[in-house]
Amino acid sequence: MALVSSTPMLEKAQKGKYGVGAFNVHSLDMIYAVTEAAADLNAPVILQTTMGTVRSLGPDNIVAAATAAADTYGIPVALHLDHCTDYGLIVQCIRAGYTSIMIDASMHSFEENVTQTNKVMEIAKHLSINVEAELGKVGGVEDDIVVDEQDAQKAIPSECVTFVEQTNVTTLAPAIGTAHGIYTGDPDIDFNRIKEIASLVDVPLVLHGGSAIPNEDVKKCIALGMAKMNVSTELKHAYSKAIQKHFEEDPSGLDPRAYLTKAKDAAKALVKEKIRLVGCDNKA
Ligand code: 13P
Repeated sequence: MALVSSTPMLEKAQKGKYGVGAFNVHSLDMIYAVTEAAADLNAPVILQTTMGTVRSLGPDNIVAAATAAADTYGIPVALHLDHCTDYGLIVQCIRAGYTSIMIDASMHSFEENVTQTNKVMEIAKHLSINVEAELGKVGGVEDDIVVDEQDAQKAIPSECVTFVEQTNVTTLAPAIGTAHGIYTGDPDIDFNRIKEIASLVDVPLVLHGGSAIPNEDVKKCIALGMAKMNVSTELKHAYSKAIQKHFEEDPSGLDPRAYLTKAKDAAKALVKEKIRLVGCDNKA
């Protein structure tokens, strides 16, 4: 199965009141782990890479691995460029075969965010590529994007309406109090704000900072209208900690098949947990 656009996948989730899991992968091996886990649960899945991962692995290699995984496992797989601030890289990823793009101009003024998003929409709309944009500012660290706690800002509902009208963006990520990375305290999620935004705009909404949000809060966000949940840090940690544990137990166990299998199994378990949490199992 070729890679698919995430737009129909997310519109279906929005209507069905469940979420689609979107997982940040940091190696080609993780692409197979995430897709295999989704296939085990008959779930659609979104593979995501940051700019750093695109630069480290190469867009063509990522697209080739994601396409091979989609073919092998036979479930709907979308490939998304996460938090991109570089227009040139967006064009490169679209050319390589990415089916979904996030243009992150949330650090700029509202007007500049509109302008930059429209520039990406101009190419994406002809190719059925999903475009995600962020309003407000999600706090925390996501690879190259760092937003200090005091600079994080929640999205303003009326601005969400104007933004969608002025850009026709296909997916919106409004900051609602979650943060990238592992929380030091409880996340300050503004559920009323999610409800209000979901009632005002008709595009699927994206929950950023999906790692370590209490399960009940995730379910509430999905019930209120979030249709995509991004998970990066928890997956990266599960994968790497399995390798760390392997070497603690067996410092001379240098066969990559041994430690990478453990890492893959740990990643798969985490992905399955999140897929069940957002309710997209058996929705492929
Ligand atoms: P976490 O690293 O908190 O899971 O956030 C992921 C994310 O939102 C990627 O865009």
